[in-house]
Amino acid sequence: MTKMKPENLRSRKWFNNPEDPEMTALYLERYLNYGLTREELQSGKPIIGIAQTGSDLSPCNRHHLELTKRVRDGIIAAGGTCIEVPVHPIQETGKRPTAMLDRNLAYLSLVETLFGYPLDGVVLNIGCDKTTPALLMAAATVNIPAIALSVGPMLNGWWKGERAGSGTVIWKAREALAAGEIDDDEFMNIAAASAPSVGYCNTMGTATTMNSLAEALGMQMPGSAAIPAPYRERGQMSYNTGKRIVDMVWEDLRPSDIMTREAFENAIVINSAIGGSTNAPIHLNGIARHLDVALDNNDWQKIGHEIPLLVNLQPAGKYLGEDYQHAGGVPAVVGELIAANLLPHPDAITANGKTMGENCTASRTQNDDVIKTAAAPLMQAAGFINLSGNLFDSAIMKTSVISDAFRARYLSDPDDPDAFEGRAVVFDGPEDFHHRIDDPSENIDESCVLFMRGAGPKGYPGGAEVVNMRPPSYLLKKGINALPCIGDGRQSGTSGSPSILNASPEAADGGGLALLQTGDTVRIDLRKCTADMLVPLDELADRARVLLENGGYGVPESQSPWQEFFREKVGRFDEGMTLKGATKYQDISRK
Ligand code: FES
Ligand code: MG
Repeated sequence: MTKMKPENLRSRKWFNNPEDPEMTALYLERYLNYGLTREELQSGKPIIGIAQTGSDLSPCNRHHLELTKRVRDGIIAAGGTCIEVPVHPIQETGKRPTAMLDRNLAYLSLVETLFGYPLDGVVLNIGCDKTTPALLMAAATVNIPAIALSVGPMLNGWWKGERAGSGTVIWKAREALAAGEIDDDEFMNIAAASAPSVGYCNTMGTATTMNSLAEALGMQMPGSAAIPAPYRERGQMSYNTGKRIVDMVWEDLRPSDIMTREAFENAIVINSAIGGSTNAPIHLNGIARHLDVALDNNDWQKIGHEIPLLVNLQPAGKYLGEDYQHAGGVPAVVGELIAANLLPHPDAITANGKTMGENCTASRTQNDDVIKTAAAPLMQAAGFINLSGNLFDSAIMKTSVISDAFRARYLSDPDDPDAFEGRAVVFDGPEDFHHRIDDPSENIDESCVLFMRGAGPKGYPGGAEVVNMRPPSYLLKKGINALPCIGDGRQSGTSGSPSILNASPEAADGGGLALLQTGDTVRIDLRKCTADMLVPLDELADRARVLLENGGYGVPESQSPWQEFFREKVGRFDEGMTLKGATKYQDISRK
């Protein structure tokens, strides 16, 4: 299937424009100065960009520097020419105040790069949490043929004979440290044990989620997401991905052909089945907006909530990335969903030119303790619910991580089994939380609901991963290791806390959370999907007036130019945290 003729390649406008030989010479000469030949740039070979997210500053994605050699081999074998393109680094664990701030910055800069330079197609080097959505968003806006390549998860971590999963083991160790069961040194050793090799988080955190969803959307080769970074298959997949992008250019297969509404519906279902991160709705809603595909948190509940949990990975389950790969990865999950008639659109087209059904129908779990069948899942109804009320318009909750102990404490009233009421304890940002949480004068007990505000896209900025708040150490010592948590921030996908989060609009953007006071009674109903402060209307009106007189909900000063620009332009979590004004630019490579 060849749709694109060499004379219509986009790169010809730069490197071989018969109508403008002078500009051609000017565009061309500097790309020869490091050894590229005129033959490679002018003989009708597609010029393929490799969007390089690997660097010393980005350990999760650093192995891409190695894998890119195989991508290049594949591109050249298929008759293309490679140009490696640096991407603004986004390291989840290293960037202050939060890596999420840079998702849109990397997006913006990659859009300019892909649009403004002679590229016919692009390989997206994805991996660490926000690198995946940033690159998919840019590919969506520019809409040149694009294929994603995961760097792959780290090998399984081990500590004292147990699997030590990225993030997940650290949240547990943090509680042990606060309870005085371990010292700082052991805490450090546990953390290091969870990062045993190159690659990204080996738990079902945001990275494994988003890499799985890049495959679920059809933007990766089938089977690509789960291969651990050091495995030989990862290098082989890199080679095949390089080969495939050249064919995608000739087939003129673009992101808008692949990432359709149907593909997003598939991805929502697959997210539930893998037990995906609460960051996924923010990212997928954002990618969809750049393609003019309607998608919101109601879709996540409607399409995703009833889907069973099949993948037994930490934090919801017990295994890690290597086990996921050996059990069959995303194709096995999709195959099990198709067999149970749960995948809404098996006919959705994917990057290898085949449909999801053609790629995955024959795939089955190779270990049904790691990837369950839909007939015997880990849990029913594993998707998110979308809550609303006078605290916010939209916030999501991952019900699959509600523990039995939590259920027994908050959701066991026979007359009211799906709802609980509690006394609000309100924190304004993570620093406030750290100052006050262990202070006995706060009188925090099991009847309290912890609130985090000032942690959203504008408040923090970028949104802090802080809603999974630990209880005070004096409660932890009594064996109470989770209180209900609600907030306008996010939480790490590696956290197992059943928080209500990503609340939109945030306190700093006119949200009802700004009116909440410590001591208020709040009511959460998981069947009706409501979350309200039980405060009389006239009292709320008074609080709103006072807040307005004081200039609204305050946020700390921006520390950098980008933080300021970001705050001026950023939208809500439920709308994908995209930049206002950016989403109107669509399909720009053809304009
Ligand atoms: Fe990079 Fe988790 S911190 S993938
Ligand atoms: Mg994270």
